Amino acid sequence: MTQPAAETPYVLVLFYSRNGATREMAEQLAAGVESISGIAARLRTVPPVSTTCEAVDPEIPAEGAVYASLDDLRHCHGLALGSPTRFGNMASPLKYFLDTTSELWMNGALADKPATAFTSTASLHGGQEATLLTMLIPLLHHGMVYAGVPYRETRLLTTQSGGTPYGTSHLAGAQADRPVDDDETTLARAQGERLGRLALAMRSLHEAT
Ligand SMILES: Cc1cc2nc3c(=O)[nH]c(=O)nc-3n(C[C@H](O)[C@H](O)[C@H](O)COP(=O)(O)O)c2cc1C
Repeated sequence: MTQPAAETPYVLVLFYSRNGATREMAEQLAAGVESISGIAARLRTVPPVSTTCEAVDPEIPAEGAVYASLDDLRHCHGLALGSPTRFGNMASPLKYFLDTTSELWMNGALADKPATAFTSTASLHGGQEATLLTMLIPLLHHGMVYAGVPYRETRLLTTQSGGTPYGTSHLAGAQADRPVDDDETTLARAQGERLGRLALAMRSLHEAT
């Protein structure tokens, strides 16, 4: 994914993924953002959380997206938050990162910016919507404007796998071996496109404050 120049508006696609399914969804959503002229996608992840709290990961991961900084979040024009489902909730590494954002919360740095969420599960009824709602809550506290997936995306009505109006989702299967399918890809890209358009349209709102 191209790295945006400093002045190019960007959507931050911030995700955690242990086995790669949520990362694949993040890449599809980012492709949707980048299909909109004038806005870039910035893919960032967060380190795993260790049971030994003092343990630290290398600052740069061995592969894939680099770790998000508070500045990535502060300067974004929109945010897509992605997590695997963990007991119907977002994964703790993402929550851990969000719990470091109180400075941005106090300063209203994310207020009036559009946001969305995406997830991946092992099972079809394993809590996709519930997990998306857990990601919505901190975004509302930050004053962000949540955008799901509207039903004009007709695959919401026909998908036999992932895809919800709360945000997009992927059914990875019990063995985590189910690829992101055509419906899930189409919906994730549409979600990214919509977020890109909203980020550009709402730019003047948060830049004015
Ligand atoms: C601790 C834990 C809890 C999980 N809870 C759920 C769950 O509630 N529902 C479900 O369908 N899958 C659950 N899973 C499976 C993951 O959500 C699923 O494998 C997901 O696709 C992993 O995404 P990733 O490849 O991006 O890491 C859980 C996995 C772990 C490790």
